[in-house]
Amino acid sequence: MEHSYSCRFRFFLACTVLVLCLSTRVARCQLTDDFYDYTCPDVYYIVQQHVFAAMRAEMRMGASLLRLHFHDCFVNGCDGSILLDGTDGEKFAIPNMNSVRGYEVIDAIKEDLERMCPEVVSCADIVALAAGYGVLFSGGPYYDVLLGRRDGLVANQSGADNGLPAPFEPINSIISKFRDVGLDTTDVVVLSGAHTIGRARCALFTNRLATSTSSADSTLDATMAVKLQNLCAGGDGNQSTVLDITSPYVFDNSYYQNLLKQKGLLSSDQGLFSSTDGIANTKALVQTYSANGDKFFWDFGRSMVKMGSISPLTGEAGQIRKNCRIVN
Ligand code: HEM
Ligand SMILES: *[C@@H]1O[C@H](CO)[C@@H](O)[C@H](O)[C@H]1NC(C)=O
Ligand SMILES: *[C@@H]1O[C@H](CO)[C@@H](O)[C@H](O)[C@H]1NC(C)=O
Repeated sequence: MEHSYSCRFRFFLACTVLVLCLSTRVARCQLTDDFYDYTCPDVYYIVQQHVFAAMRAEMRMGASLLRLHFHDCFVNGCDGSILLDGTDGEKFAIPNMNSVRGYEVIDAIKEDLERMCPEVVSCADIVALAAGYGVLFSGGPYYDVLLGRRDGLVANQSGADNGLPAPFEPINSIISKFRDVGLDTTDVVVLSGAHTIGRARCALFTNRLATSTSSADSTLDATMAVKLQNLCAGGDGNQSTVLDITSPYVFDNSYYQNLLKQKGLLSSDQGLFSSTDGIANTKALVQTYSANGDKFFWDFGRSMVKMGSISPLTGEAGQIRKNCRIVN
């Protein structure tokens, strides 16, 4: 009797220790939605204020912050590596140079947070939160941004050059780049819906326009092709236009409706609906989201959480940068 009691007690103790260990592990090694609740509860308010002000000055900034998070996460995980200065950094990688925007907004947020809760909130988490508010203030879905990332110690320029998808790539090859970071075909279609806001430069879509030796892309609406031709003629490639011609500053599902009408801007956009390279289910998904905006919103939040969880540094890994542009 005595023996069995103490045995049971010991078993209970062992279980308690196990549960404690597990929960400590979880707290240390996974992202959570309450990570700063005790250490910096105002983080939401601060990020929100800055993103709101930046978007009031320039609505496009919401889109730019969303893309910043995407380009951070695809290279060495969501670790703020894109923010590191230096010509050998990710900022100077081909997909990012003269293209990715929003660094100053992140700097301003970091400055406020360092005053309020020094060395607590990572730059990677600031980027993730700013992207979430960029979506929300553009009229898109609210989703719980998971937090607890730490900042990386290195930038990876070749990783950015090789890992980020280009708009000229076949859909198959884009899908394979997403798969490399743990995202599936549905994530490709859902996250491409981010192109419901923001702009792109001529250099990224002139491959679809007529030249003296070739005609325009047959999957591009003819009227739209002529307009784009005029916009881009004689420029240096930096002129830009909206990615969603229907409602350029509103986060909605018109991006997908445009694709049904051959009015996607980039090859990688229109290809999700029109490509014949063997990935049939992207077309079906485009049809689904064009018809069901609620489903798009729900799935977008889900895929953002997934993208935001690509190889995060947690626990003791990495550091909390004091200045997002340089390692401590
Ligand atoms: C599927 C593969 C993708 C390709 C090939 C692609 C390509 C591009 C290109 C070429 C631009 C214009 C860049 C410039 O003009 O310099 C752009 C803009 C943008 N991309 Fe993507 N993208 C992809 C996926 C994504 C994803 C997953 C997101 C976010 C979840 C995203 C968000 C954005 C946003 C918001 C903009 C506009 C940014 C601004 O106006 O500052 N894109 N994308
Ligand atoms: C850079 O990225 C590539 C591809 O993702 C990866 O294989 C490599 O280990 C990374 N290098 C560093 C220094 O992080
Ligand atoms: C315009 O594009 C060229 C390359 O085509 C680049 O060298 C230049 O810096 C760009 N200008 C701006 C203002 O981004």
